[in-house]
Amino acid sequence: MTGFRNKEIVLGITGCIAAYKSAELVRQIIKQDGQVHVVMTESAREFISPLTLQTLSVNPVVMELFSLYEEKEIGHISLAERADLLVVAPATANTIGKIAGGIADDMLSTVISATRAPVLIAPAMNVNMWENPIVQRNITTLKDLGYHFIEPATGDLACGTQGKGRLAEIDDIVDEMITVLSPRDFSGKNVLVTAGPTREPLDPVRFMTNPSSGKMGFAIARAFCRRGGAVTLISGPVSIAPPRNVRFVPVLSARDMADAVDRYFEPSDIIVKTAAVADYRPRSVSDQKIKKQDDSPNLELERTTDILATLGKKKGNRILVGFAAETQDLIVHAQEKLERKNLDMIVANDVGGSETGFAVDVNKVSIITAGGPVDELPVMSKEEVAEHLLDRIARLLETRQLSC
Ligand code: CTP
Repeated sequence: MTGFRNKEIVLGITGCIAAYKSAELVRQIIKQDGQVHVVMTESAREFISPLTLQTLSVNPVVMELFSLYEEKEIGHISLAERADLLVVAPATANTIGKIAGGIADDMLSTVISATRAPVLIAPAMNVNMWENPIVQRNITTLKDLGYHFIEPATGDLACGTQGKGRLAEIDDIVDEMITVLSPRDFSGKNVLVTAGPTREPLDPVRFMTNPSSGKMGFAIARAFCRRGGAVTLISGPVSIAPPRNVRFVPVLSARDMADAVDRYFEPSDIIVKTAAVADYRPRSVSDQKIKKQDDSPNLELERTTDILATLGKKKGNRILVGFAAETQDLIVHAQEKLERKNLDMIVANDVGGSETGFAVDVNKVSIITAGGPVDELPVMSKEEVAEHLLDRIARLLETRQLSC
């Protein structure tokens, strides 16, 4: 899942200073094509105006359990039934206690008790309240019953103290919402993803590299995580933050990447190599900055190890997926790499166009499975490419399991 297309989200807002952040959450849901219905508790209205949320969500904000209009048009049963996901953000200790105790005495707690949709709770409160054993016991009770939680963050709290209790970042709540809505078809699988460029040093201040942004590999790592995989992400230097919940291993050179892949290869079930690894490095690396000369120096290069080809020789039952960055004869070159490196799948990536490939947000790829047809995808976001690729890998896993 790349967003909230065709999804109806009920967003419960409770009375806490972080309630103002819910406006941004509404915006994010809408931006990612979701429908959102806001339900506010009475005390939430002390912190943020229903009009703000109504304007952003383009839907009436629901507040009263016994309002004749609201009950007819968007009553608690209707909301509870139409929701694909119920999110409470921010959730106070009081509301968490009510849900855990089965109390349904206002619109929000009533919708929650009447829904069969998954419920995600994002607590926000003072650190002492968070650490209160009754609150913790309520959270454990709810987790045991299948309610989902996103932990609060640690930092400055509105009451002037420091500690755990801040509402999780909105981007992380959105990520967790998508995770809850995603299939868990990779749960129990160890996944190794490589991403980004490598840097091959020439001297202490110069290196050879390429413009890979890491976005494709990071999107794949994030998608595996959302779909239940245990992900190790090995990446060359990039300027984007790694996805939540992955084991992140930063590296610099092709040699570092080869060592890291070697370290994490054994327990992996699936390996996806999106990294743009340098094929050559300077034969010698100067300890000191190389001074400029009048003549043109010759730069002597040597080959790096082809990490993917090495893995192809020892992959066993693992699923091995490579990327082929090409500027011409895309499919021919990709198919040749698939065979030569003994891969199960290769993603032929057209990096010649100005709108796709390296360092942009969209990509145009064809997915080729060993012995299978060429699946040409239209231009789409890297997140969408990642989802398509995971669907193909899930299908491959299924066929393997069937033939075992
Ligand atoms: N790859 C690798 N180690 C290398 C070079 C490439 O593991 N030293 C991997 C890449 O991560 C990618 C695949 O091999 O999954 C294909 O990379 P690409 O640069 O397209 O092809 P090369 O094999 O380097 O061949 P060429 O540069 O001639 O196209």
